[in-house]
Amino acid sequence: MSWFTESKRSLMERMAINVLKCGSIPRHVAFIMDGNRRYARRLDLSAIDGHKRGFERMTQMLEWCLDLGVDEVTVYAFAIDNFRRPAEEVDKLMDFAKDMFDKLLNDRHKLNETGKAVRVFGDLSRLRPDIQRLVADIVLFTQHNTRKVLNICFPYASRHEITTALQELQICVQNQIIEESDITESLISNFLYTSQSSDPDLLVRTSGEVRLSDFLLWQTSFSVIAFAPVLWPDFTIWDLFSAILYYQRNCSSAKSEQQLHELTLGLTQPMDHNNHTDHSSRRQRLTNCLLYLHNKRITQMTRMSSNGNQVVEVNT
Ligand code: FPP
Ligand code: MG
Repeated sequence: MSWFTESKRSLMERMAINVLKCGSIPRHVAFIMDGNRRYARRLDLSAIDGHKRGFERMTQMLEWCLDLGVDEVTVYAFAIDNFRRPAEEVDKLMDFAKDMFDKLLNDRHKLNETGKAVRVFGDLSRLRPDIQRLVADIVLFTQHNTRKVLNICFPYASRHEITTALQELQICVQNQIIEESDITESLISNFLYTSQSSDPDLLVRTSGEVRLSDFLLWQTSFSVIAFAPVLWPDFTIWDLFSAILYYQRNCSSAKSEQQLHELTLGLTQPMDHNNHTDHSSRRQRLTNCLLYLHNKRITQMTRMSSNGNQVVEVNT
C-alpha cells in the first residue's frame, strides 16, 4: 500500500475533468471519510480492513484532486472521540497509521520534489510516541513546501481545537503579549491548526450521514457542503465530480455571503480612535503574539520529532 498511486484517467474521466475546469474549482476541499466499517461489514471484512480500503480510496482521491487542480485537501482521519472505540480497532488503526506514516517519511523526497506539504492537525499528545515522532518528522520536513497541501486531522475535534486556541490566547493575555481587546475573529483564526490555510471551499461527507461531527466547525462557516450517499471506500471519481458540480452550482452565493461577512468584520474590529500610537503598538503586540505562537508550535513539533533532544528553546 502506498501514498503515491499513479493510475491513469480514462478518456471519459479526462473529458469530465476538462469540462469541470471550465468552471470554478475549489481551492481547498475537506473530506469526512465516513463509512469504512459499514463497508467492511457488507463484505464480511474486519473493521481494520475497512479502514485499509478507506486509506487506499483516500490516496486515489488525492490524485483525482491533483488532476482537478485542487491546491489543498483536508481529511478527517481520526476523531478524538474515535479513541472510545473498541481497543482492538483503535490499536490496529494506530499500527496501520504508524506503518503508513513510516512509508510517507521514507518517500519524503517525492513530497519535496513536487512541493507538497503535509500537516497534521489535532491533539498530537494523545498519539503514541512512535507515531508522534513520525508525524513531527514529516510535518517539519515538508513545512516549507507550498505548491500542494495535505492536512490530516489525526486525532482531531473542532471544539477541542477552538477550546485550545482560546486557552492559548488567555496565556498570551496573562503574559501581557496581547491585551484582551486585541482578541478578534481573525486572531482566533490564527490560533487554530488551520492558521496557514484558507477556509475549505467545499466539504464532502460520505456514507449518507448529514452532520459535521465536530469537524472544522469554525472553518466551514461559509463552505459548500456536499453529502454523498456512498460509503467512503466506494467513493468514486464520479462522486467527486458530482460534488464539484454541486460546488459550482452553489459557490457564488457562498462566496457573496463570505464577502459580506468580511465586510462586516472590518466594521466591527476594535476601534483605535484613529490614534496612530495605539494603532502601531497594537500592530506590534499582534506581530509579537503571532511570532510567539509560531515559535511555540515549531518548538513543540521539534521536541516530538527524531531531533527532539537537540531542541534549542526559541526566544520570543
Ligand atoms: C470513518 O468510518 C473512518 C475512520 C474513523 C477512519 C478513517 C481512516 C482512514 C481512511 C485511514 C487514515 C490513515 C492514515 C494513516 C491517515 P467509520 O469507521 O466511522 O465507519 P462507519 O461510519 O461505517 O462506522
Ligand atoms: Mg462513522
